[in-house]
Amino acid sequence: MDLPKKVKIVEVGPRDGLQNEKENVPAEVKIELVNRLSAAGFVNVEAAAFVSPKWVPQMATSREVMDGIARKPGVIYSALTPNMQGFEAALAAKADEVVIFGSASEAFSQRNINCSIAESIARFEPVAKAAKDNGVRLRGSISTAFGCPYQGDVPLDAVADVVARMRDLGCDEIDIADTIGVATPRHTQAVMETAIRAFRIDALSGHFHDTYGQALANIYASLELGISIFHSSVAGLGGCPYAKGATGNIATEDVLYMMNGLGIETGVDLDAVAEAGHYISQFLGRKSSSRAGNALLAKRNG
Ligand code: HMG
Ligand code: MG
Repeated sequence: MDLPKKVKIVEVGPRDGLQNEKENVPAEVKIELVNRLSAAGFVNVEAAAFVSPKWVPQMATSREVMDGIARKPGVIYSALTPNMQGFEAALAAKADEVVIFGSASEAFSQRNINCSIAESIARFEPVAKAAKDNGVRLRGSISTAFGCPYQGDVPLDAVADVVARMRDLGCDEIDIADTIGVATPRHTQAVMETAIRAFRIDALSGHFHDTYGQALANIYASLELGISIFHSSVAGLGGCPYAKGATGNIATEDVLYMMNGLGIETGVDLDAVAEAGHYISQFLGRKSSSRAGNALLAKRNG
């Protein structure tokens, strides 16, 4: 099969990337980051999470961030919403898309959102309905689809089941997430093929963390199946607070470098993203985890 000619990259750095930072990142820094990213050409930026601030303190400034960003026409600014309380907050903050996030593993569901998979779907039902009633785009994210830090292997049937439930809730897009970055390319294809049987291929996305350095290979393996939406995080920021030891998403700069080399259109300016990666890495006081970002910076600095 030919690779897709065009892909959508969802930039999740401001949410998935920063949610795990121990030191408080002020709202104005997040706002500057989001603005730099939308200026770089992303059509979808995950900017906020309306979750309990006791569970994820870093996301407590989500309203301020959503209020402060310069909204670029045509860009979808997404926010995580685990329940109706989160949905109301996201609606008030004018999120263009809300993300219900469940898991293919019971153990991870309990640790991350404090309820079983079935309970989570029941919580998502009113959120999904409210999203439709208010004309807000609805995305479903499925964590630990490739492996779980608490239960280990995750069967394909469990992934198929949650994809079908998310589909039945009316999701416009569904993310298949490797929360702890354990997948390898053939396993990725097996999981993606399972998801493709249950949902529209053009609305399925791959969300790969890079813990074991496999994320880029897994994206390529997904491209081979025709998947055309991928999540990534500028400078490779991030990790989930409820997946200990798991590192950030694959770095956006690395994904863009590969897409450019493959002649796949993204609509995003790699140099501008590398600058945004440099900006946030400097703020955090550490080197970016993006190989391509660091190489571009070194080249620029001669
Ligand atoms: P709970 O304790 O079961 O909820 O938490 P509750 O309904 O019993 O409420 C308890 C308290 O939380 C109450 O406050 C509520 O007001 C408050 P109190 O009376 O104690 O002061 N609360 C909220 N506050 C703000 N916004 C809300 C909200 N809901 C309740 N929406 C809950 C359940 C889901 C809220 C909690 O477990 C939670 O917030 N978990 C956070 C999970 C999270 O954000 N994880 C990281 C993001 S997921 C991820 O990174 C994976 C992903 O990237 C894909 C992948 O890589 O796998 C998407
Ligand atoms: Mg994630």
